[in-house]
Amino acid sequence: MNKNTQNLKEQAAVRAVEFVKPGMVVGLGHGTTTIFAVRRIAELLQAGGLKNILGVPCSIQVEKEAQHVGIPLATLEEHPVIDLTIDGADEVDPNLDLIKGGGGALLREKIIAQASRREIIVVDESKLSPALGTRWAVPVEVVPFGWRTQALYLESLGADVKLRQDENKKTFTTDQGNMILDCQFGPLLQPAELAAKLNARTGIVEHGLFLGLATDLIIAGAEGVRHIERTK
Ligand code: A5P
Repeated sequence: MNKNTQNLKEQAAVRAVEFVKPGMVVGLGHGTTTIFAVRRIAELLQAGGLKNILGVPCSIQVEKEAQHVGIPLATLEEHPVIDLTIDGADEVDPNLDLIKGGGGALLREKIIAQASRREIIVVDESKLSPALGTRWAVPVEVVPFGWRTQALYLESLGADVKLRQDENKKTFTTDQGNMILDCQFGPLLQPAELAAKLNARTGIVEHGLFLGLATDLIIAGAEGVRHIERTK
């Protein structure tokens, strides 16, 4: 990641943290942008500007980072309603619909997004797209049992399918022990129709189309930081 992108991600994350208020249960998303928010929350806690925060992490990796920087944590079992979540995205369309899962945490991210009163998505402007699927494949999380049948199903829906690998060229495994099939569909004109087909298939655990879940989008770009709220 170049320095400029890193700066933009940090600016978006820092702005999002302004919405975190004392006493909140805060969902901590996964990814390089969200890590800036985690560090900012920790800074404010240490400086005394923020008190009584409980973080609910979306992944084992962010859990470790939050513990490392000293954010008190809770589980979703203990706090099944989250006040506000800050998370990143891979692609964002003009309706504030998203593709997520580039980091492989889509299942927990979606569970937490659906449990959140407010879901603030933080991105640099390179994530903006006219239509989901233009820039990014749709990650589809599948159970290992019979995964090739899911790959064939996804191909029948028009996807070019790749089994995700980790940095050691081994099959990537999610925090839930599942696999990810990255599905290149090209620009999606009807993402909700595709989401319905994926939701209906046994063996597909979850997918990276986050439709109607983001309440707020914070975008950092060359012109500064913008905040867009979903119109109700
Ligand atoms: C994690 O599974 C993803 O949904 C991330 O939120 C997404 O990949 C954004 O990542 P970066 O903030 O690292 O760009």
